[in-house]
Amino acid sequence: MSGKFLVFEGVEGCGKTSQIQRTQEWLESLNISAIVTREPGGTELGLHLRQLLLEAESTSITNKTELLLYAADRSQHVDQIIKPALAEGKVVLCDRYTDSTIAYQGWGRGISLEMIEQLNLLATGGLQSNLTILLDIDPEISFNRIVAKRQLDRMEQADLAFHHRVRQGFLSLAEKFPERIVAIDANQNIDKVTADIQQLLISRR
Ligand code: TMP
Repeated sequence: MSGKFLVFEGVEGCGKTSQIQRTQEWLESLNISAIVTREPGGTELGLHLRQLLLEAESTSITNKTELLLYAADRSQHVDQIIKPALAEGKVVLCDRYTDSTIAYQGWGRGISLEMIEQLNLLATGGLQSNLTILLDIDPEISFNRIVAKRQLDRMEQADLAFHHRVRQGFLSLAEKFPERIVAIDANQNIDKVTADIQQLLISRR
């Protein structure tokens, strides 16, 4: 499985971070070297953008500016991290990518999906994931997980209706692109989710 681009998506608290880590460990145990990266924040510039985008105090960012900042983060990330790693034959495990922009800025904020697709194309040069794993969970359930643990960031502070629209956005993308995006029930226990991901990766090798 060399030079593969695998993306993990889902609403807040869906368990992406743990599952990406478990996937990396599993791949390493099979002698497959994989790098883990994320959006926003996969580059040095991206870390600044991530802070601007997510700190709870940045409430005056307009929807259009938010869209452009995510696109800027992605453009830098694709050129500086993702493309070079794929060129070296590595597996790239990426926490969020283009579908997050469609789900959050498109379905969540209501920005034109065509415009977002054009911007995604500009930022990525057309680079798509080989496989996107959508960890699907009801935001009401996943938010209970986060709220118990820490303060909500700026995006998480949007109301629940926003996060329901985001989930619908992801599910509609999975329906539209079944070859590229596969939904996994993230409401199951963590080990079962890991097993489902591994089974999926074996079947898509
Ligand atoms: P996370 O890395 O903890 O998942 O947080 C990233 C946040 O940024 C999350 O609320 C989703 C949001 N986001 C967008 O709104 N649009 C995007 O294009 C990306 C990559 C993330």
